[in-house]
Amino acid sequence: MKNHYPYIKKQDPKVYKALEGEETRQAEGLELIPSENYVSMAVREANASALTNKYSEGYPGRRYYGGQEFTDDVEMLAIERAKKLFGAGFANVQPHAGAPANIGMYFALLEPGDTVLGMDLSHGGHLTHGHPVTYLTKIFNFVRYKMKNIETGEIDYDEMRAVAKAAKPKIILAGYSAYPRELDYEKFVSIAREVGAYAVMDVAHIAGLIAGRAVKNPFDYGFDVMTTTTHKTLRGPRGGMILTREDAAIAKKIDKAIFPGLQGGPLMHNIAAKAVCFGEALSPKFRTYAKQILKNAKAMEKVFKDNDIRMITGGTSNHLILADVYGSLGVSGKEAEQVLDEVGITLNKNAIADDVRGPMDPSGIRFGTPAITTRGFKEKECARVAELMVETLNQRANKKTLKRIREDIRKMSKKMPIPESFV
Ligand SMILES: Cc1ncc(COP(=O)(O)O)c(C=O)c1O
Repeated sequence: MKNHYPYIKKQDPKVYKALEGEETRQAEGLELIPSENYVSMAVREANASALTNKYSEGYPGRRYYGGQEFTDDVEMLAIERAKKLFGAGFANVQPHAGAPANIGMYFALLEPGDTVLGMDLSHGGHLTHGHPVTYLTKIFNFVRYKMKNIETGEIDYDEMRAVAKAAKPKIILAGYSAYPRELDYEKFVSIAREVGAYAVMDVAHIAGLIAGRAVKNPFDYGFDVMTTTTHKTLRGPRGGMILTREDAAIAKKIDKAIFPGLQGGPLMHNIAAKAVCFGEALSPKFRTYAKQILKNAKAMEKVFKDNDIRMITGGTSNHLILADVYGSLGVSGKEAEQVLDEVGITLNKNAIADDVRGPMDPSGIRFGTPAITTRGFKEKECARVAELMVETLNQRANKKTLKRIREDIRKMSKKMPIPESFV
């Protein structure tokens, strides 16, 4: 096997063992967690580069430390590429992850006590969209919109308008972690304009699909701000970013909110890796990749439909599927996650809309196609994976069948290894 970590191997066998274990786990299993992906070796190199040694508080051309001639180049490359990818007027590439990107965005656009109208968390919104367990709810007020129809995924835009008129939010927040459909961006923007709110979208999950022109770009519909992670469909290093449609006054507020408002020194190695990832995402090949993610999700949807497994919103129009395995097969989300892990398929248990079960053992599983599409899987292979998933769930007590499926998955993984380069 390839020796990925020669220095760690020599110096720290315990850490080496864990890292090699993870390399093998990723190589020999299939990653279906819709927020995960496999990055190129170029992204990994940048992330492990000498820039990890460098402090560069501030922004290009205005730093608080010397020795910035290369950090400035790298950050400017990341910014310019991000703007081009998303048709943005401004980009801040410093957020360490998606959560700080959202927190920085709130700090830039809100005063304490202001209101945000976001998606109900049980209908697909993210923790940082105002879950009571976060400190955000001690500072800001969060009100909600929901799906009108769980079987189609249609959002209740009338309710959204009514809540917006009553609560007068400063931000109307679109975006989600577990919603398999596209939103009606015109409606979001028109309601935001009606009540004088910013239209913001957290595109963490679908950033790669937007960059690859496989789904609509919220900026084309008048959204003011987008926040995102860089590590999901966008296939970059773990990280965050904030973009605005225009290089307006809010851009300056966003820079101030991230540094010095929220973070200290930027992770320059991570920003270099973002620049490399954005370079890859600007290539024509990335557009083919993004479109294939959707086709592959449709192929998996068909198998679930054919097997009468209920999917929230009836299926998918993006990269992910949320399946009600408890309602359809009598297997809980936790049990499903565990048995699928056993056969080498990684995904996550997930609450479904208006779940009757608790969050630690909910009714659903969430899975998606970004990572296996990176591996080169097409519709045929994805349908086969979905069939193996259904067989695993139905035969969960049959150890012999599970063993056979584990071998099938290992063979598929070996046949289609994780690529080292995408250009
Ligand atoms: C929609 C959305 N926003 C924000 C985040 C937070 O990102 P991070 O885990 O990088 O902080 C996630 C993570 O899953 C997400 O799905």
